[in-house]
Amino acid sequence: IYSPHLDQAFVTLATNDNYARGAMVLGKSLRNHQTTRKLVVMIGPHVSDPCKGVLLKIFDEVLLVDVLDSGDAAHLDLMKRPDLGVTFTKLHCWTLTHYSKCVFMDADTLVVQNIDELFDREELSAAPDPGWPDCFNSGVFVFRPSNETYSKLLQYCAEHGSFDGGDQGVLNGFFSNWATADISKHLPFIYNLSSIAIYTYLPAFKQYGANAKVVHFLGQTKPWSYTYDPKTKKVSGDMQETSTHPSFLLDWWFLYASSVVPMMTEGYGDQPFHSGCVEVSLEGSSTRFLPQCSSTSQEPHHTEPYVPPETSEERKQKWEQGQADYMGMDSFDNIQKKLDAFLK
Ligand code: UDP
Ligand code: GLC
Ligand code: MN
Repeated sequence: IYSPHLDQAFVTLATNDNYARGAMVLGKSLRNHQTTRKLVVMIGPHVSDPCKGVLLKIFDEVLLVDVLDSGDAAHLDLMKRPDLGVTFTKLHCWTLTHYSKCVFMDADTLVVQNIDELFDREELSAAPDPGWPDCFNSGVFVFRPSNETYSKLLQYCAEHGSFDGGDQGVLNGFFSNWATADISKHLPFIYNLSSIAIYTYLPAFKQYGANAKVVHFLGQTKPWSYTYDPKTKKVSGDMQETSTHPSFLLDWWFLYASSVVPMMTEGYGDQPFHSGCVEVSLEGSSTRFLPQCSSTSQEPHHTEPYVPPETSEERKQKWEQGQADYMGMDSFDNIQKKLDAFLK
């Protein structure tokens, strides 16, 4: 069968089962919006076999890669994201030289409209980072696999490190003229709409949000950090859904529960395996799905569910560092309540 795009692919990364769930939802969302390109997921050795099985059903290629870690605790600490050293692993995407052009997407992104037109762009095209718009966000970018670029990137890492301890710092250092050189390499924000922007510039979100093509659940709290009740179709603690805008978080969970969970339960015969969703009865309330993996497979520090920072001082610090928990503690509703209480 003639297919003109066999040498182009969407690429994502998952080093553990939680991010693998994100990758499954991302892959499904690309398929649901009829992409004509190949789908590739790079995985680390900690992804469990059942999760690999599901990834194989959704993606054209599941590639095992070495986990690269920046080991840069100091810079990661500035971002309050000690877990992001492993994002150096992303750089492996340049080794996929059996493709001529690719689009990398973080595993915490969700496609809400077809985005195949991104392949008309050149390396390195990306959208501005909401925290520092002269930097690009490395959650979505167009690139050309090349062993030469890959080794130059590794060399750059060795010589300069990363100013944020993760891949975004390296890539912005390496592609340092992105901000000024060529406007066609600036992707519109709708290709990497970070959920944070809904709260930082709500009027713009109301004006342009309906055009969103990719939603990025950037930040510490990921969709899989929440619990979902499949009966009421509600996400616990989801403050997003209002009459003015839909909840992308709910969209993510809906896709996960309706398309991914069924794939996890089928076809593993005698293997000790559960679906990846645990049913937990909370006193007096309905059954909820928690995103959890088979017990043997996770990296230690990703097993704990998300716990909000304890003291208000810590929260204040996080807020000032742009790490507010916009979908939970620091949501509009909660801030409004606080203000109301204060004014009374
Ligand atoms: N990632 C991963 N394992 C990790 C952390 C990150 O596989 O433990 C990958 C995953 O594809 C993820 C990307 O690296 O989407 C970037 O990390 P994250 O999305 O958490 O960063 P943020 O966008 O919140 O800054
Ligand atoms: C960012 C990007 C993410 C990247 C991280 C570390 O916030 O969204 O893709 O891995 O920074 O550099
Ligand atoms: Mn991300």
